[in-house]
Amino acid sequence: MVSRVIPVDPFDLVVFGATGDLARRKILPGLYRRFVAGQIPETSRIIGSARTEMDNQGFRAFVAEAIAEFIDAKKRDAESVARFLDHLRYVSVDAKGDSGWPELAALIRPDVVQAYYFSVAPSLFGDLAERLHRHGIASPEARIVVEKPFGRDLETAKALNATLAAHFAESQIYRIDHYLGKETVQNLMAVRFANILFEPLWNARHVDHVQITVSETVGVGGRGAYYDKSGAMRDMVQNHLMQLLCLIAMEAPYRFDPDAVRDEKLKVIHALQPVAPEDIVRGQYRAGGPGGNGSSYVEDVDHRDSRTESYIALKVDIANWRWKGTPFYLRTGKKLRARASEIAVVFKEVPHSIFGDEEGWRENVLAIRLQPNEGMTLSVMIKEPGPGGMRLTEVPLDMSFAEALGEDGADIPDAYERLIMDVIRGNQTLFMRGDEVEAAWAWTDPIIAAWEARGDRPKAYDPGSSGPEDALMLLHRDGRRWREIRE
Ligand SMILES: NC(=O)c1ccc[n+]([C@@H]2O[C@H](COP(=O)([O-])OP(=O)(O)OC[C@H]3O[C@@H](n4cnc5c(N)ncnc54)[C@H](OP(=O)(O)O)[C@@H]3O)[C@@H](O)[C@H]2O)c1
Repeated sequence: MVSRVIPVDPFDLVVFGATGDLARRKILPGLYRRFVAGQIPETSRIIGSARTEMDNQGFRAFVAEAIAEFIDAKKRDAESVARFLDHLRYVSVDAKGDSGWPELAALIRPDVVQAYYFSVAPSLFGDLAERLHRHGIASPEARIVVEKPFGRDLETAKALNATLAAHFAESQIYRIDHYLGKETVQNLMAVRFANILFEPLWNARHVDHVQITVSETVGVGGRGAYYDKSGAMRDMVQNHLMQLLCLIAMEAPYRFDPDAVRDEKLKVIHALQPVAPEDIVRGQYRAGGPGGNGSSYVEDVDHRDSRTESYIALKVDIANWRWKGTPFYLRTGKKLRARASEIAVVFKEVPHSIFGDEEGWRENVLAIRLQPNEGMTLSVMIKEPGPGGMRLTEVPLDMSFAEALGEDGADIPDAYERLIMDVIRGNQTLFMRGDEVEAAWAWTDPIIAAWEARGDRPKAYDPGSSGPEDALMLLHRDGRRWREIRE
């Protein structure tokens, strides 16, 4: 199977924050990969911008280093890097000052797609939006791309939305959630809505429960100060896990159109029930772990009395006809046993086993892996091969994209690459709408407020484990168990 690359229209893409971590690791190397794939037209330009003073040559050297560091040697060559660098320009601007803006204005062409990537702290979004207008730079069709975190509660998210809305229409705003750019996430929609097989079973009558796991092996790293004010609920659940839940739970949109898809996701968020205290387990990693000398969460964030969670598990109910009675169990955490993101749709038992109490019987599970090795597995029961009588065994029907797509499959575009190309195409389907983000915060805020009011302390867990013991109980008491966290 050969995947087709369809070039986008010529564009000028300005990356504000071009000297920052995200631009260096993801955005600029990702654009190089799209260039090599033939998706970026020859007349397109990528304009880096930040306060740091640099000329075009300096920026090209910076990007060449980023490509060398973040793109596998087998997937780059000097000739294509040189051709890519020709497309780059650099203009120094201060979001909070006026120098540099006229130079930027002079560079932007009115007759190509314009996109402005705000890869800077959210506190600068308003300044950038305002100056893009004051200096007559952004055309009425220009697109802006903004990063997480989109607010830290409903109030701040509303304020950010209002700031952007003062200068840009909603149809121009692309709020990135890079989980939505993953091949598997889009495939989830294809599997659900392009096949007759699953949809009749996709409801509380046939689905016992759903598990969504996003597990990391790293701790908070250098982001300690930021993370300690945020925690797993704000940093991961309100956005990434919520988006995955919506894609599993939503009704079929009337067509694959940005607003139709986002309308259906929004209905799911509105149907989420408040979560009872006994349905939440928060955790914080201890010191130790592999090698025995890892630092604890409170050491990493340099806050002895921190009550912020580096792990959270919750049981979520969706009050609508399709899902009433089928819990969604969500969990995410740092310093866990493996780096793995997975959605598992666990189906109910057959109503009656004609094989008696057959050992080895398991329920059908559709497991959707987001990382590593994106793909889907459907586990089904078959007869154990051979003459040993009618014994059952579980086999996976495996669809690993890398295998299914052959050579090209190993080269699935990174989420950022796909999403940036969608911005240039003007397709907002995989981006969060302002009302979605606000609805997600409206559900999240009271949950956080309640544990803060109770003075809850997170439970300690060992680095390299699956999280706090209490999280196991969350499922055990319902007669269920978490799937193993493994790569
Ligand atoms: N890094 C990630 O993996 C990641 C993941 C998800 C979301 N994000 C989000 O993406 C955004 C960027 O993150 P980052 O990690 O790249 O941050 P970063 O490394 O701190 O980079 C910030 C960038 O903003 C520029 N900048 C700062 N103040 C400025 C000003 N007044 N005017 C113009 N430019 C200014 C900086 O360059 P100068 O100092 O040269 O001006 C730098 O290029 C943040 O909103 C972050 O939350 C990042």
